[in-house]
Amino acid sequence: MSWIDIGHIDEVPLRGARLVKTHIGCIAVFRTAEAEVFAATNSCPHKGGPLSEGIVHGQSVTCPLHNWVFDLNTGEAQGADAGRITIYPVRLEEDRILLDDSAVTRRSAA
Ligand code: FES
Repeated sequence: MSWIDIGHIDEVPLRGARLVKTHIGCIAVFRTAEAEVFAATNSCPHKGGPLSEGIVHGQSVTCPLHNWVFDLNTGEAQGADAGRITIYPVRLEEDRILLDDSAVTRRSAA
């Protein structure tokens, strides 16, 4: 794994998200009410809605366009909807958000 620093947790709004530029494009970084962080593709698999503008609740995000809900642990759509978003490994270290750059590179090459 190759962890890269992508910012301070306070740069991501509580129960919100922020876009982070990487070499494969923008990734959405989400922060839950419990100050956990998750990273995923920004584009909804339904019709491309910007997930970084969605609502974070629990460990899920609701797409702002048609309200599909995605589990931020697995990327799976919840309920009757079928689809998935790509989740990228992130972790917190002294309030800095670290993204596994090697996983991002691997998934972009797949
Ligand atoms: S574009 Fe996300 S639910 Fe339709």
